[in-house]
Amino acid sequence: MPIIAPSLLSADFLNLGKDIDMINNSEADWFHLDVMDGCFVPNISYGMPIVAQIKKRAKKFCDVHMMVVEPQRYLEDLKNAGADSLTVHYETGYHLQRTLSAIRALGMKAGLAINPHTPVEMVQDIIHDIDLLLVMSINPGFGGQQLLPMTYNKIRQAREMINKAGANTLIEIDGGVTLDNAAAILAAGADVLVAGNTVFSSSDPADTIKRLKQAGK
Ligand code: DX5
Ligand code: ZN
Repeated sequence: MPIIAPSLLSADFLNLGKDIDMINNSEADWFHLDVMDGCFVPNISYGMPIVAQIKKRAKKFCDVHMMVVEPQRYLEDLKNAGADSLTVHYETGYHLQRTLSAIRALGMKAGLAINPHTPVEMVQDIIHDIDLLLVMSINPGFGGQQLLPMTYNKIRQAREMINKAGANTLIEIDGGVTLDNAAAILAAGADVLVAGNTVFSSSDPADTIKRLKQAGK
């Protein structure tokens, strides 16, 4: 069964507690929280105070996706805000191995995200330092975009690399995941599906989560 991680980016922020409770009571496994700085991506979402508020209500694993430059500056603050995993972008780092080790040393799962233009093989030498490889299936910054078809090949490459290395790294797909493409994404080798628009624009979000969970069966 895949891990389902609804992205709160598409939630109703005037009724955030209600949407968090919906996820708490659904078959979702994780909360996916998108922190954007307006520099790494052309959008600004929310930061530590909101993550901390979400954490007070969320009863599941909080998967924080940092779309920020110099993510190493915020590891401790996000740990204190309640992050269970921190994912930083490959494209932001001169010393990624150090950053990933620092995330683990703080007691969190370490994630590394790659943008569509970054080849999977770039992370090969640090695969044992990564608990979560987030393969971006869109250019990050906004919800509601369409999955780039090149993603399937990248998932297969990532699966092969992880299996060959004997690593436990999970493959997470973020961007444009729908009920129509979830099965193909899982068949290619993904473990975690992030879904924002698909969940929150549906008439029955909990049922949509349930259907994502059953995708690929
Ligand atoms: C975008 C974020 C995603 C976003 C996905 O940069 O990383 O997590 O919420 O949204 P959907 O599922 O709507 O493509
Ligand atoms: Zn994300």
